[in-house]
Amino acid sequence: MKYQQFLADLAYKAGQLALRMQQDITDDDVSTKETARDIVTIADKATEKLIRQALAERYPDYRFYGEETGKSDDNGSPYCWIVDPIDGTASYREGQLFWCTSIGLWKDGTPLAGAVYAPALDELYYAELGEGATVNGKPIHVKSHGKLETSVVSTGFACLRAGWTIGNNVPYFEQIGLHCRGVRRFGSAAMDLCYVACGKSDAFWELNLQPYDLAAGAAILLEAGGIVTDLRNGNDFPKQGILASNGPALHQELLEFFPNYSRPAGR
Ligand code: IPD
Ligand code: CA
Ligand code: CA
Repeated sequence: MKYQQFLADLAYKAGQLALRMQQDITDDDVSTKETARDIVTIADKATEKLIRQALAERYPDYRFYGEETGKSDDNGSPYCWIVDPIDGTASYREGQLFWCTSIGLWKDGTPLAGAVYAPALDELYYAELGEGATVNGKPIHVKSHGKLETSVVSTGFACLRAGWTIGNNVPYFEQIGLHCRGVRRFGSAAMDLCYVACGKSDAFWELNLQPYDLAAGAAILLEAGGIVTDLRNGNDFPKQGILASNGPALHQELLEFFPNYSRPAGR
């Protein structure tokens, strides 16, 4: 595979840096974004700096889009690295397990490769277009557990952190929760996608993600045989929400909870 050795190794190095820094993080090392509920630590920034420098040296002609340092100049390249240095920062800050480093490579706006490394779980997910998906070098594939009523799904509430009092995820959480075996809120969208990819959950949906939350995880899920759409069964994700699943039957069941979905005005 063209990118695997370098990309998987870089995700590992970045994740190990974040893991080493985790125990020494103090409140002075944490700052807030739009609100006090949305934080960024010095580890997020250091990890993205490591990743961005390594990618710029190895692939100087590729574009870059990172959560913490933004977008490189548009040089017209079809290739773009889309990076979330720590996905699940709130979990990371609390010393929890579900956080990861996520490095996606997209070409002409579609997934080409992805690496997601969860250091606390010792799980490194990798995929490259047409080459399949793996975790720690072992092939992974989505796994169906039947209809929604016998499926475990996951979601997130970025919309609540963003203050969506109207059109947020709570009603969908309730309705889907009433019709499935279980709903999980892992705290990392990239891991949500990887868990569907390896068959540890059956579907994932969310309303207010950013491209860097899903760029790598979507590449991994697609190579693992999964489906990724927006909440209208289109390709306008994450703007019109995201729905990821282990196959068309469950995907259709879940889409029925989002009839005529449209992102709330002004959001
Ligand atoms: C967050 C996680 C979370 C999702 C939020 C994201 P961050 O990423 O992916 O699961 O619900 O929307 O912002 O902020 O920790 O990088
Ligand atoms: Ca994120
Ligand atoms: Ca992040």
